[in-house]
Amino acid sequence: MLSYSRFLALSTLAVSVARCSLVAPANKGLPSTVADPSNFNGTTTDSDGIASIALQVDQRTGPTTEQPNLPAAKTTLTVIDGSLLSNATNPVPRRNLATRAFAPESPRRDTSDYEMVFRGTGTGPHDRDASIIGTAYLTYTVVDNSTYDSGLQECLKFCDNTPGCVFVNLFYEKNNYLLDHVFPEHSNLKCAAYSDVHTAKEKLNFGGQSLSGVPSGPLSYIQQSSGWSSKSLCDPSTPGGYDPLPLLNGANEAPGYMGYVFLSQYDVDKCAEECNKRDPDPVGGSCKYFNIWRALVDGVPTTYTCAMYYIPADPSTAINYGQGSLIVSDSRGYTRKSYVLDGGFEDYTCGNLGDFCFTNVTDRWIASSPAGGIFDASIFHYANYAHSGFSCALLGSAFGSDSLAGTLTYTSPLHTDPGATYDIQFFHSSSYSGTVDEEDAFVEVYWNGKQAGVIRPGFSDWKYYHFTAVGTGSDGLQFRGGAAPSYDFIDDIYVFKT
Ligand SMILES: *[C@@H]1O[C@H](CO)[C@@H](O)[C@H](O)[C@H]1NC(C)=O
Ligand SMILES: *[C@@H]1O[C@H](CO)[C@@H](O)[C@H](O)[C@H]1NC(C)=O
Ligand SMILES: *[C@@H]1O[C@H](CO)[C@@H](O)[C@H](O)[C@H]1NC(C)=O
Ligand SMILES: *[C@@H]1O[C@H](CO)[C@@H](O)[C@H](O)[C@H]1NC(C)=O
Repeated sequence: MLSYSRFLALSTLAVSVARCSLVAPANKGLPSTVADPSNFNGTTTDSDGIASIALQVDQRTGPTTEQPNLPAAKTTLTVIDGSLLSNATNPVPRRNLATRAFAPESPRRDTSDYEMVFRGTGTGPHDRDASIIGTAYLTYTVVDNSTYDSGLQECLKFCDNTPGCVFVNLFYEKNNYLLDHVFPEHSNLKCAAYSDVHTAKEKLNFGGQSLSGVPSGPLSYIQQSSGWSSKSLCDPSTPGGYDPLPLLNGANEAPGYMGYVFLSQYDVDKCAEECNKRDPDPVGGSCKYFNIWRALVDGVPTTYTCAMYYIPADPSTAINYGQGSLIVSDSRGYTRKSYVLDGGFEDYTCGNLGDFCFTNVTDRWIASSPAGGIFDASIFHYANYAHSGFSCALLGSAFGSDSLAGTLTYTSPLHTDPGATYDIQFFHSSSYSGTVDEEDAFVEVYWNGKQAGVIRPGFSDWKYYHFTAVGTGSDGLQFRGGAAPSYDFIDDIYVFKT
């Protein structure tokens, strides 16, 4: 690190060399424009907006007259940033037929992995029941109806073999010509699979459809509709490129919020995919964290929120437990893993030297000059120079003593997966010396010694850039640029696997 006395000596020298109008960065000059981009106040989660849309979206569905054994439904987006894309098409008119008292029968056998959530009516001539219309419907099958128990065993196996299934609804549908005569299984015992658990409250399909195949034939009706949930609801597996937080008590209310989507299912991988492809925020950059949670409205699963952030949040802000009839449940957070540590240079501080200092080496970075150059690359601790926080890197002679390009090198090679693609992201500013003197500003990005990208923005305020590169297993990362008085400031460097 540069000693303070040497720093003073060099700065005196610099003043004589630099153009008189321009105070060099090493002399604590001020950029021609000082933005305040590190103020992320007012970028907090729009919890009220999310809650109000959660009360409007309708993602509930169940088996309709489609054929059985279709592939399980894939997760879809139902809302993007407040715009409703689609409601689930509700298959049947919901009739509030008076349901009869539930018969006290329960199946004699159970597989040990499932437990009954609710039982069904009997199958007498006057028994009427309803099947589930709920979120996260996957697919259905028809099962052996020689006895209810044999059908149940088959149904639970069906759930075992349907990816994502944690719940089944087993019920008879009577007066359905397709089940009775068309589908080859010849069974009226339907088994519907869901990736969320539903309760008897959601028995909303009472039949009442004209499905008998005869114009004025009897309407369809439901009997003995029971619900079974998997006993162990295991944690979802962590999506590639992310680190999980411990289970959160609520949804995050955190700064750096960049919008949300609603998902048709609680699908962590889908949420990661949305975070990876979300357009970068002009101030905060790419998505670096997501929070997925389930909304229960009056106790009923309603939607699955995937909220995205450019600043990784943590459990301290997971304080939104719900509002009114809406309860936040199963909230989880995942942070995107950067292959570069201290890409914001915040590990570098001045200790007792105050709020301004600079160096040409930190634990993670080496800032070097070509022969004859003096501090052509450097790392500054000074909030006025940083994009966020207090520190950043500078390319271009810090003292303004030469116009050679400096090089900023990450000290250790990145442990990449050979063949995988990586996104190198950073913020850059070349506003220090004003429009005329910054015209030669440039930064070249090197990945494993090869140029992965170059920018020649001339004068520019802080802006987000990114370039992609393919991993070889061990990759060096360097930034080269600056030609004082054209200065290039770099901050918030991230490398993500894409
Ligand atoms: C951000 O908000 C906090 C708390 O309201 C306040 O203390 C802080 O000064 C604000 N920061 C800026 C840069 O406005
Ligand atoms: C979705 O359903 C809700 C409630 O049933 C309704 O208010 C809303 O207008 C529907 N939206 C669309 C796009 O159909
Ligand atoms: C099984 O389903 C078929 C087709 O709907 C029906 O004809 C038959 O009566 C059902 N058997 C029983 C035992 O419910
Ligand atoms: C850092 O600066 C010192 C002078 O203060 C110099 O001796 C050293 O070679 C520089 N290191 C690099 C990597 O340029």
